[in-house]
Amino acid sequence: MSPAAGTWGAWRKEAKSVEPSGHARTLADMDHVGQQAHAWPRSAAVFGASGGIGRALCDGLAACGTQVIHAGSRAGTDPAGAGMRPFAFDLTDEATIAAAAEAMRDDPPEWVIIATGVLTLADGAGPERTYKRLDAAAMAEVFALNTIGPALIAKHILPLMPRGRRFVFAALSARVGSISDNRLGGWHSYRASKAALNMLIKNLALELARTHPEGVIAGLHPGTVDSALSQPFQSNLPDGQLTAPGDAAGNLLGVLARLGPEQSGQVFDFRGEQVPA
Ligand SMILES: NC(=O)c1ccc[n+]([C@@H]2O[C@H](COP(=O)([O-])OP(=O)(O)OC[C@H]3O[C@@H](n4cnc5c(N)ncnc54)[C@H](OP(=O)(O)O)[C@@H]3O)[C@@H](O)[C@H]2O)c1
Repeated sequence: MSPAAGTWGAWRKEAKSVEPSGHARTLADMDHVGQQAHAWPRSAAVFGASGGIGRALCDGLAACGTQVIHAGSRAGTDPAGAGMRPFAFDLTDEATIAAAAEAMRDDPPEWVIIATGVLTLADGAGPERTYKRLDAAAMAEVFALNTIGPALIAKHILPLMPRGRRFVFAALSARVGSISDNRLGGWHSYRASKAALNMLIKNLALELARTHPEGVIAGLHPGTVDSALSQPFQSNLPDGQLTAPGDAAGNLLGVLARLGPEQSGQVFDFRGEQVPA
């Protein structure tokens, strides 16, 4: 796939010209790159709307004309604003995910984006630099949040997706989940949980392609984004490598707008380039 999705900053400027009913407008009209893009979604759901990237995705969708945004977080209050429909869920409580999906049944979102994830656990345990630091409970928690939670969202949301029309179901993954691209090692649980997430994305895509040929299921690598997740690891970054959440969201939304069913099951970075498995 070709690179160069527009940034949210550019889009926001453009979005001012979106008509109130402008959801049918395509991104090809909106950005300077002019690549083929699909219709912008009338409705979307973001799981993880309280996070750095998730909140920016909600803002980016709203700025570009998405009229209904189901915005999920543990508190169930973020973010406020026109079109936002906050809801509560917890990745570790399947009943809350099922309830969230049920509430969307009558008018399912056209795009679903899972923007949850952990690198450092709530007790402060950071990613392991060596196998000697592996801890079964910490590893299980990372998998519960980064792999099993998104799988359960798929279990309850995918049945709502239309069979004969395009939909997008995307999960924030990470380049470090690529096995063939792993040259540094370390971060055992995080890498492994994202590699497993990528496998689930591939599996879901294969299964859904049989009944939902227009569906797009994809993983996304956002780049290194200035958020609570990356904050403890920002000090050694080369200049210019840290992306603002709004720019990251603009890049990711631009990628999603351009994906077709032929790309379903793959992971793409913020430039729209495939991340190898
Ligand atoms: N930032 C980066 O540089 C970077 C790079 C590569 C990949 N990613 C991926 O991008 C995604 C988003 O990262 P971010 O930087 O936006 O992180 P963030 O700001 O820390 O946000 C994490 C999100 O996950 C949610 N979450 C955590 N535990 C949860 C639970 N039990 N139930 C429901 N939600 C829960 C948080 O909700 P609460 O507010 O309730 O805690 C928050 O919305 C992650 O999958 C991450 O791996 C990020």
